[in-house]
Amino acid sequence: MDWIDFYDFKHSVIYVNARHRDVHYRTIAQDIAKLVPSPTAHVLDYGCGEATSANLVVAGCAQLILVEAAPNVRASLAMRYAGHPKISVISAEQAAALPKASLDLIVMHSVAQYLSAAELDRLLVLFHSLLKPDGLFVLGDIVPPHFAAPAAALSLLRFGAANGFFWAAFFGLMRIFVSDYLRLKKTVGLSHYAEVGMLEKLRRAGYAPERSGHNIGHNQQRMTFLARPV
Ligand SMILES: C[S@@+](CC[C@H](N)C(=O)[O-])C[C@H]1O[C@@H](n2cnc3c(N)ncnc32)[C@H](O)[C@@H]1O
Repeated sequence: MDWIDFYDFKHSVIYVNARHRDVHYRTIAQDIAKLVPSPTAHVLDYGCGEATSANLVVAGCAQLILVEAAPNVRASLAMRYAGHPKISVISAEQAAALPKASLDLIVMHSVAQYLSAAELDRLLVLFHSLLKPDGLFVLGDIVPPHFAAPAAALSLLRFGAANGFFWAAFFGLMRIFVSDYLRLKKTVGLSHYAEVGMLEKLRRAGYAPERSGHNIGHNQQRMTFLARPV
């Protein structure tokens, strides 16, 4: 089992209930929508997950490409957005074959922690080639090295308290602890990056990066980077 399998459930255990999932995706979509540069923009969301609020992003752009590696999640996305004129749902392999220099905005949020450093490097090269020269790559939810798990748990409880699902968040955390999450964390691992290290990694991959003042989503212990190809 790897992280893609872990996320390949119809409803991942990572969301404590439907309300959590919907508020989570709505918060992310609202933040991504603010980053869309123009109504004519072509946008790609890599590792989009269930993306239940993609309509909020697509309302402000010309095309939204949702890329999801987990086959069951991808199938359910394809059903949800079937026939939508501006949304397409594709696999990671199909993303690698998209036309070069065709995208204005690429977002990869809460995915880098599940990739090895080498996998992330390969994606940085791919995204650089897919972006237009004045495009923007947004790398969100980068987990810093220290106290990542307690900070994430606390942040989830606060998010639950603010959105009316505190006890579901509490019991959801228990459920996550007895799921495969901890075993995978030990065997496959999670990638953590300090701010300086990530800025350096992005520079080496040919971007001019800066850390955003706001992390996409609710967990402000984590970091979002804005990176333009140079
Ligand atoms: C926490 S979810 C993030 C979903 C969404 N972007 C969000 O912020 O809610 C992690 C995503 O990473 C994807 N993922 C995990 N490992 C991956 C890999 N090796 N290659 C591509 N995607 C991967 C999973 O399929 C899942 O959709």
